[in-house]
Amino acid sequence: MPKAHAAILRQTNTPLSIESIEIGPVAPGDVLVRIRAASLCHTDLEAIEGSLSVPLPAVLGHEAAGEIAEVGPGVETLGIGDRVVLSWNPHCGTCFYCDRAQPILCRQFLANGPKAFHFDGKPRLTCEAAPVHQLMYLGGFAEYCIVPAQAAIRIPDAMPFDRAALIGCGVMTGVGAATRVADLRWGDAALVIGCGAVGLSAVQGCALAGAATIVAVDPNPARQQLAQAVGATHACAPADALDLIRSLTDGRGADAIIEAAGRPETFRLSVEAVRPGGQVVWLGKVAVNDEVAFRWGSLMQEKRIIRSSYGGTKPATDFPMLARAYLDGKLKLDEMISARISLAEVNAGFAALKRGETVRSVILMG
Ligand SMILES: NC(=O)c1ccc[n+]([C@@H]2O[C@H](COP(=O)([O-])OP(=O)(O)OC[C@H]3O[C@@H](n4cnc5c(N)ncnc54)[C@H](O)[C@@H]3O)[C@@H](O)[C@H]2O)c1
Ligand SMILES: [Zn+2]
Ligand SMILES: [Zn+2]
Repeated sequence: MPKAHAAILRQTNTPLSIESIEIGPVAPGDVLVRIRAASLCHTDLEAIEGSLSVPLPAVLGHEAAGEIAEVGPGVETLGIGDRVVLSWNPHCGTCFYCDRAQPILCRQFLANGPKAFHFDGKPRLTCEAAPVHQLMYLGGFAEYCIVPAQAAIRIPDAMPFDRAALIGCGVMTGVGAATRVADLRWGDAALVIGCGAVGLSAVQGCALAGAATIVAVDPNPARQQLAQAVGATHACAPADALDLIRSLTDGRGADAIIEAAGRPETFRLSVEAVRPGGQVVWLGKVAVNDEVAFRWGSLMQEKRIIRSSYGGTKPATDFPMLARAYLDGKLKLDEMISARISLAEVNAGFAALKRGETVRSVILMG
């Protein structure tokens, strides 16, 4: 059974500890992935701070890329050395929701998610004989990770691991919100609220979908600049967003809004700034028991509001497509990597994410 160093959360609001864990067995249908790069997403931070409830101890990390190190019995789709991005949405393929092409609602995915073990609901990681949980079916802050073969998505060999890792959550969620969830049309006006990795990816998704006007909103001027560097046509502070989008759309408001900041005021702005008949995609999160209040009138006029997880992803189709888009120069990922760090620097990486200094820090696993 392989051993691996991993970053483990033992108690909320305490630093992750780097410990040695045992990984296995590689059961039928599983693959063992040698993680080469894993990035720090805001959702990991929510687990550390306790606003996302995860049984502990747990290996965090759910944006990761690596190479196949071992294939379990029955796995025919992947071979040793294949380069993969990990998906946090394994799904059964046969339930009511899978049958309706909504894998994010898969019954097995939702039923076993709170256990935070492997997709079959059983542990694969131990530390001194005690089971260790895996955040979002992965646990990517480790040298090795076991996933069902369907959650290891093959990408071209030319795709660098550090940029590939970003595809596994933030980039997929943001690009997918624009290209898979919002009904954006050629020439549309879009507004993206929040310019972290998710929002910057949404900006790029809006451009890929053909939006002619893309307004990026963030209080941080550096993020506004970054948004323009990856394709926003305009950028502004939250206080100016409503006036700007209205001035650009003959007073109507945006055809589509993608919210990627996760604050009561950004959810409120999203429904104020969309035009009648337009659509709002909420990606950001507040704590599950928090309440968000709206001006009732802001919800009127045939506005469609969709709360999306993972940007409507179909990982097997979308991950290779996003990698290809990067390699072809149509998707900018280099701009989103603020720092490359070691596993031992993970806590400093989260402190920088919390302070808003980094878009993504990527752990290079060596
Ligand atoms: N739905 C999903 O599947 C999914 C996946 C990943 C992340 N998320 C969520 O998406 C959100 C963004 O994630 P991220 O990793 O990009 O986070 P991040 O912290 O890197 O980025 C958030 C951005 O929002 C900006 N912001 C803060 N206040 C704002 C305001 N009032 N108006 C506009 N912008 C504001 C910040 O300056 C920052 O640039 C988080 O809430 C995260 O939990 C959702
Ligand atoms: Zn299913
Ligand atoms: Zn994430």
